[in-house]
Amino acid sequence: MGITLKLNGIKKFVRDDELSKIEPMVKTASELLYSGKGAGNDFIGWVNLPFEYDKEEFERMKAAAKKIQSNSQVLVVIGIGGSYLGGRAALDFIKGSNYNNKKHPGFPDVYFVGNSISSDYLSDIIEMIGDRDFSINVISKSGTTTEPAIAFRIFKKMIEDKYGKEGAKERIFATTDKARGALKSLADKEGYETFVITDDIGGRFSVLTPVGILLMAAAGIDVDEVMKGAQDAANQYKNDDLANNDCLKYAALRNILYRKGKGIEILANYEPSLTMFGEWYKQLYAESEGKDQKGIFPVSANFSTDLHSIGQFIQDGSRNLFETVLWVDKAKKDIVIEADEENLDGLNFLADKSIQFVNSKAYGGTFLAHVDGGVPTMVIEIEKADAYHFGQLVYFFEKALAISGYMLGVNPFDQPGVEAYKKNMFALLGKPGYEEQKAELEARLEN
Ligand code: PA5
Repeated sequence: MGITLKLNGIKKFVRDDELSKIEPMVKTASELLYSGKGAGNDFIGWVNLPFEYDKEEFERMKAAAKKIQSNSQVLVVIGIGGSYLGGRAALDFIKGSNYNNKKHPGFPDVYFVGNSISSDYLSDIIEMIGDRDFSINVISKSGTTTEPAIAFRIFKKMIEDKYGKEGAKERIFATTDKARGALKSLADKEGYETFVITDDIGGRFSVLTPVGILLMAAAGIDVDEVMKGAQDAANQYKNDDLANNDCLKYAALRNILYRKGKGIEILANYEPSLTMFGEWYKQLYAESEGKDQKGIFPVSANFSTDLHSIGQFIQDGSRNLFETVLWVDKAKKDIVIEADEENLDGLNFLADKSIQFVNSKAYGGTFLAHVDGGVPTMVIEIEKADAYHFGQLVYFFEKALAISGYMLGVNPFDQPGVEAYKKNMFALLGKPGYEEQKAELEARLEN
């Protein structure tokens, strides 16, 4: 079982000796990470998390998941950014992006809110819940983020109106800091069951903490398998031998390509259920590397869908991009195309072939075309989109990112840039303490 990095598609663009020349930098980055002496070293709790997670809390999450399954048809998950993307990516990756539309008796639908400020989105979700029984998992590490706080205020009222304060208490689960923040104080005051995001794990590295685990368990995902996948990856990618470590190779090659002017990475997949994984990757890589006027800009694409839109640009536009393909080897359920006597659509040449087979040829054909068109392409082959491989893939990308960020010379664990818009928004909304900025910003918007 596993994931494999395939490098045929970059041979034309990167010589072998370029990798060996950069190896000392990889070793330094690895040493910085494991010794805890690198920038942002307060936030490397995710490195050993697959082994050192709180086992008692893990069991408590499984019990909470059972309780949710027994009394709720819907679980409303409230969170944004690192407190949203990983959990949603996990659900789609493992259960498929149509999870809520499929029958899954005994397990709740999972709706995500608090990840935007859209009134229409929120009212749609409220309508979709209807009179069904529901529980809430509100997630915010800081406990002060505006989008989830607004959504929680609305859903807290809804759940209290439906079940009373005491009943609601049994259905609200808060995932937040162990001591700080408005959410923690509120949860303590109201008596909600709480789960902890530890200080040493930043939001975008938190998918394997209660942030992702509780909702996965509620949806019936085998969370032990998720952690097993992450553990195996942590062991597999621990060495600093570039030749025998796909994770380090991927990090090193990204840096080599960046220095050759390839400033955009497209993470492409051939499975709609990996769309949210691409969203998770974008946050992880953009927030970690995009700073000090440096960094590779991460984008994601869903093939073959996007080959009919941005495919032209990838094939033939500005040559400043490279591609990393996520290819899943085995379909969960493969459908065979049958022969048709009339053959009006001319598709009988595909008779008895499976859809996965056709998809694999789309992948093969696209891979060759993009390489021929001047797009360096790495491929990560994933045996199966299941719980184990999700855990493995998460760890692969987290570790590769940390190494890549250190090689780039940035602190991969802070995100000073995300505060700028928030300050302006608070000032414009008239939040106490921002009075001076308000007048100045309003004047600038008027001109
Ligand atoms: O990576 C980050 O730190 C951010 O994207 C946060 O995850 C996001 O802003 C949500 O923050 P919080 O969990 O504190 O509500």
